[in-house]
Amino acid sequence: MEQVTFIILGVTGDLTKRKLIPAIYQLIKNKKIKNLAFVGISRSATSIEPIIAAAEKFIGQKDEQSWKLIKQSSYALAMNFDNQEDYQKLALLLKTIEQKHELPGNRIFYFATLPEHFSTITTSLSKNGLTTTNGWSRLVYEKPFGWDLASAKNINKKILNVFDEKDIYRIDHYLGKELVSGIAFLRFTNRILEPLLNNKHVDSVEITMTEKIGIEGRGNYYDKYGVIKDIIQNHGFQLLALTAMEAPLKLAGGHIRDQKARVLKKTRLAEITLGQYKGYLNEPNVAPGSRTPTYARARFEVNTKAWKGVPFIITAGKNLAAKETSITINFKLAECRIQSCPTEPNTFKIRIQPDEGVSLNIYTKKPGTQEISPVEMNFSQGRFEANTPEAYGTLIEDVIRADQSFFVREDEIELSWKIIDNIPSDLPVVIYAQGSKGPP
Ligand SMILES: NC(=O)c1ccc[n+]([C@@H]2O[C@H](COP(=O)([O-])OP(=O)(O)OC[C@H]3O[C@@H](n4cnc5c(N)ncnc54)[C@H](OP(=O)(O)O)[C@@H]3O)[C@@H](O)[C@H]2O)c1
Repeated sequence: MEQVTFIILGVTGDLTKRKLIPAIYQLIKNKKIKNLAFVGISRSATSIEPIIAAAEKFIGQKDEQSWKLIKQSSYALAMNFDNQEDYQKLALLLKTIEQKHELPGNRIFYFATLPEHFSTITTSLSKNGLTTTNGWSRLVYEKPFGWDLASAKNINKKILNVFDEKDIYRIDHYLGKELVSGIAFLRFTNRILEPLLNNKHVDSVEITMTEKIGIEGRGNYYDKYGVIKDIIQNHGFQLLALTAMEAPLKLAGGHIRDQKARVLKKTRLAEITLGQYKGYLNEPNVAPGSRTPTYARARFEVNTKAWKGVPFIITAGKNLAAKETSITINFKLAECRIQSCPTEPNTFKIRIQPDEGVSLNIYTKKPGTQEISPVEMNFSQGRFEANTPEAYGTLIEDVIRADQSFFVREDEIELSWKIIDNIPSDLPVVIYAQGSKGPP
């Protein structure tokens, strides 16, 4: 059990209440942390009570003792990331709090804010001695990391000037989801799968990341980024890379990151359709006449020996008919020696949300006939007795344990932005009805 000081930069934002405070609470409840201080920072963070209260409804059934510990250990500091004097105030506050709670100075700085602040905050933390303690300091950066290749390179350069890659955790919370971190286990522990996952047997791979909700008041952020930078550059490419990577030497750490980077290096956009849901322009803080896409369906080529010629199709969007995150592998049709052959492929599907699990569609003979019938073999993650842990909790625990396996490395970030930078900015954006399947 560790003793940690959590510093959340951007504490009044949506992410903190929805995910970060609940994740810290879970770590206390599950006895992964025995002692902590939690310091929330933003320009308007004058008091911690309303911030903690806003998170309460995202906790579910509460363990009163763990909740009390969070409340007793939480502090706020109203500061501006651009103001150097404020970092001195923060340094003093952290020292005082760590003394009061008898903490060793193990600090997690969590950047729950936009990437335009990453370089300034990081250099200011270093300059003002905030990461020099008797314990360790680790920095966690939310996605998106940058807004194009040049900005991502620039941020990487600036933060690596003052910190080592081993202290840097670029988070993509999809990598904390059980079924995503489990893709490598599925692929490389099942003999019946891996030999088939290549261009000899696979027809296409579909990665789906659709949501029923719209931008939920986050126009300020979303209108600048849109679906490609918000979802495809990070979650989409991580799912693609985990599906297409070669077997890593070990299912851990740098080995997985090496293999993912190899895939991203060989990935190119072939074709893309963009859409925007009807009514998007009326959302708060969206620019008049904005062409920001809320939907994209894109075909990528993965030009590795194993996957050359197999389309990887990524679909992502908001305000669509269904909420679904999944990877479907469509196999080629089998050589058929009967009269009524299957016209649809065998599929292997990894369901990331909702109803986490995997399924395999195969054909069997209908009893008493000469016909075939498709059947589904299905596994639901819920069959395990243990609850599936929340992604943010898993990843923050990894930060505490200094395990970077499921965080994104510098080269992966830059390679994925390189693919995105090649998308022309003047493509047509088709309007689609809310609740539909997207543009025709
Ligand atoms: N929301 C989600 O579910 C979600 C999911 C995945 C990833 N993310 C990522 O997480 C990050 C944060 O998301 P969010 O939705 O929480 O964003 P948000 O609601 O826009 O919050 C941004 C935070 O930064 C603070 N801030 C902005 N400029 C500041 C400055 N100059 N000085 C000090 N504080 C400043 C804001 O507070 P003040 O205005 O009070 O200063 C606020 O607390 C984003 O990069 C987002 O992409 C969010």
